[in-house]
Amino acid sequence: MSDERTLVLIKPDGVARGLTGTILSRVEAKGYKLVELKLVNATRELLERHYEEHVGKPFYEPLVEFMLSGPVAAAVFEGQRVIEGFRSLAGTTEPTTAAPGTIRGDFGRDWGLKVQQNLVHGSDSPESAEREIGIWFA
Ligand code: RTP
Ligand code: MG
Repeated sequence: MSDERTLVLIKPDGVARGLTGTILSRVEAKGYKLVELKLVNATRELLERHYEEHVGKPFYEPLVEFMLSGPVAAAVFEGQRVIEGFRSLAGTTEPTTAAPGTIRGDFGRDWGLKVQQNLVHGSDSPESAEREIGIWFA
């Protein structure tokens, strides 16, 4: 059986705060295999495809603006159940209440903005992972 893959993004807040290495190192230390890595200045077109499920939500436009605010580190990690495993390492969406020990819980907080700046993105299903990897690593 072939290994599962997930798209991990270190969002502009994580890159700007110098946490790229720390975050990648947690995922590698868990045992997942890094198979792709690059720094990207995302375009609006790319983000509209990536976040198509969120079109029309109140945080959509602030989210796109946030993701355009600086470089993003895009990575693909591989391993059995890596999608679930990375989301467990990341913690829940809201950094205020994300569990300590998770990436969002340890490094994130609410800044009172229109969108949660929560350091990382991880695909949420095998279908999303393949779709998102195709967008970021075309
Ligand atoms: P992600 O897609 O980034 O891995 O995060 P997620 O599954 O935990 O969250 P999702 O519901 O997919 O939302 C995507 C991103 O939008 C921002 N968000 N802000 N109420 C808010 O302020 C709010 N809700 C969502 C976050 O950056 C979230 O990660
Ligand atoms: Mg999501």
